[in-house]
Amino acid sequence: MKTLPYLKKDDRGIMTLYVEEKPYMMLAGEIHNSSSSSLGYMKEKVWPELRGLHLNTLFVPVAWETVEPEEGSFDFSIPEGLLEQAREEKIRLVFLWFGLWKNGESTYVPEWVKKDTRRFVRACYPGGLLSDTITPLCLSAVQADQKAFRKFLNFLKEKDSEQRTVLMVQVENEIGFLGGDRDYSDLAEHEFRKPAPQALIKSLGLEENEEITWEQLYKDRAPEMFMAWHYACAVEMIASAGKEEYPLPMYVNAWLNQFPDRPGNYPSGGPIARNLPIWKAAAKSIDIFAPDIYLSDFDAVCREYTLEGAPLLIPEARRDAVSASNVFPAFAVYHTIGFSPFGIEDFSPEKELGQQVRADRELLEQLQIDELAFVYNGTGPYLARSYKLLDSMKELYFQYRGTKALQGYLQKNEHEKGTILRLSNCDLELTYLRHSSAEPGCAGIVIEDSENSFFLAGCNTEIRLTPHGNVPGKHLTVLTMEEGTFENGRWRRERVLNGDERYHKVLGCEPSVLRFRFCVEDIRS
Ligand code: DGJ
Repeated sequence: MKTLPYLKKDDRGIMTLYVEEKPYMMLAGEIHNSSSSSLGYMKEKVWPELRGLHLNTLFVPVAWETVEPEEGSFDFSIPEGLLEQAREEKIRLVFLWFGLWKNGESTYVPEWVKKDTRRFVRACYPGGLLSDTITPLCLSAVQADQKAFRKFLNFLKEKDSEQRTVLMVQVENEIGFLGGDRDYSDLAEHEFRKPAPQALIKSLGLEENEEITWEQLYKDRAPEMFMAWHYACAVEMIASAGKEEYPLPMYVNAWLNQFPDRPGNYPSGGPIARNLPIWKAAAKSIDIFAPDIYLSDFDAVCREYTLEGAPLLIPEARRDAVSASNVFPAFAVYHTIGFSPFGIEDFSPEKELGQQVRADRELLEQLQIDELAFVYNGTGPYLARSYKLLDSMKELYFQYRGTKALQGYLQKNEHEKGTILRLSNCDLELTYLRHSSAEPGCAGIVIEDSENSFFLAGCNTEIRLTPHGNVPGKHLTVLTMEEGTFENGRWRRERVLNGDERYHKVLGCEPSVLRFRFCVEDIRS
């Protein structure tokens, strides 16, 4: 029997997903929310669009409302069909459990939950106005979700222990309370006035104190921290029950905060970076806290989420062409476990040629996603090339990752002109090329396979090699510059770029790879 996928630090201390005992580079996409509610739709409209994109993994929702239409009676025919389809397509799955919470609301709960607001208590805005979110303080709701999630993981154990098509499970989706800083229902009011839980105080390393209130502990941030604690405790109840059945890696994803940065504008209490200490204290069964990156400062988000060696996973990424270049630093600099643009069935090369698709403005406004992040015109072919390239380099990537021989770069904003990377025996002057917003950005990955040779893969970068520090007395000669591909992890050279082409040391907007060999001579003596 194949082993269960698992997360473990590799020899260099980098958290890695192992699939069939090998490190796994997750080159993925997430489908639209409603696609997987119909197996027929998946067959006709989704899978055909994915072929050619070089995905090895698909992120697919499973809705509580479809698997437990009546309380206590379960129907897993949809996830079962999804497993079969994925196996036919030779693609692994990450299932997204749309349970009690999806984008801060409770729209995926079954009808019997929706209809019973007494048993399944709604969070309230000040003044008692009911929200569309079931409060995480409602134990019977959390227990009902927990029961369904347990059944779901048990189903996966039964149906997938042989093949291990499923790699991970996302617990809920972009959790938190929208439209207010906290729940003001009677239940929450009562709890908020009580002293903060001792388990929390202990996890903060504070002396036990039976009296300290949320407000004393967190001042202005108390409402959000109160929500974070209760959401994280609820997630822990749900995830730990699932893991008892079938211990797949599990993660939660975050709707990120941005201007105007106030809880409620984004789901209050969700696993945004500044809330992670409380999430980590309460939700010990969660392996990864993952950002959905629609913001333009990709680098800043990756940095925040990898502090203190935390593992990164990007379950949702922008749909514009910059995703095809961001994927390089995501792996090279931040060692992400996976990268996954959203709405991936829109990306097929055939479908999008010449189309300028703009997403529904109202939806984007509601989700605080900037319109550009949703424009996928032309992204598919670029992304497919990046994925193909990275997939072909994965052996080399895992061999050198976490050593000085592997580096990555990306242009963080349009004012940045370039960067200089110091390699073992030369400096690499990388100038960022001007490009249109319909093209990938300037980014790449550099792997030195010896002191005097390296591979550079990426896009929109002009390359210059100089001796270290470019000081007089040393002379660098490029011996060869080659185009090529990797086959079974080995370089297969194609054109040797010499003559007129030797002046053109450039990675263009199409993601590609070059190999350089060079020598450095001391010319002082
Ligand atoms: C983020 C959510 O997590 C996704 O499910 C989806 O709603 C996208 N936003 C936008 O469509």
